[in-house]
Amino acid sequence: MSLDANAMKKLVAEEAVNRYVKDGMKVGLGTGSTAKFMIERIGELVRQGYDLTCTATSVQSEELAKSLGIKVVDLDEIDHLDITIDGADEVDPGMQLIKGLGGALLREKIVAAATVKEIIITDESKLVEKLGTKAPLPVEVLQFGHEHTKYALERQGCKAELRMRDGKPFITDTGNYIYDCRFESIEKPFFLESRIDIIPGVVENGLFLNTAYDVLIARPDGSVESMAEKLASKEA
Ligand code: 5RP
Repeated sequence: MSLDANAMKKLVAEEAVNRYVKDGMKVGLGTGSTAKFMIERIGELVRQGYDLTCTATSVQSEELAKSLGIKVVDLDEIDHLDITIDGADEVDPGMQLIKGLGGALLREKIVAAATVKEIIITDESKLVEKLGTKAPLPVEVLQFGHEHTKYALERQGCKAELRMRDGKPFITDTGNYIYDCRFESIEKPFFLESRIDIIPGVVENGLFLNTAYDVLIARPDGSVESMAEKLASKEA
């Protein structure tokens, strides 16, 4: 068996829901093409009678969830989330992540911070030895003075490109721009994050460090691996 990219996304999304979502939970809904399959599986559970209260990391995920009959509330209507299931753009061997190619990194980070267990669903194409080697690092910035923010970002050693859509700057759900920052590789992600976060105009960066409780990885042979289990068995 050799699964294609879409089949791997569906496999890992369904495995994450089956493994981690229990009746009565408060669930954060991620964003992207892998998360879409997860929302569809949650919709099936709701139709089977599960009582789930969900909050969404983007307008797109919220609309999909509501269309499937899932109860979606504002994050501030609940005090915490038991679990959030979301995708990622890069995953390093220590479960550190880059997210935000789908443009939802700000809400994704706020929701992750309110979550007890953040579960990441990916396939092996997202695995890297060092962050920044395949994907750019998305950074959400205020529109005001964004060229100045860009220069400050580039002083951290990257080439920063304003994300465009249909010939115009891409605007996030929260009304900001995104710069995609290409590094050769990110050698010290925690240090870089601290440098980026103090730049005036930066709203949020796409480094999700020490955020993942588990990363599930789909393989073309139809298997799904848990990075948390693999790391725990190495330590034992
Ligand atoms: C959106 C994200 C997505 O989770 C990430 O881009 C992965 O998306 P996909 O599953 O479509 O590859 O961070 O902001």
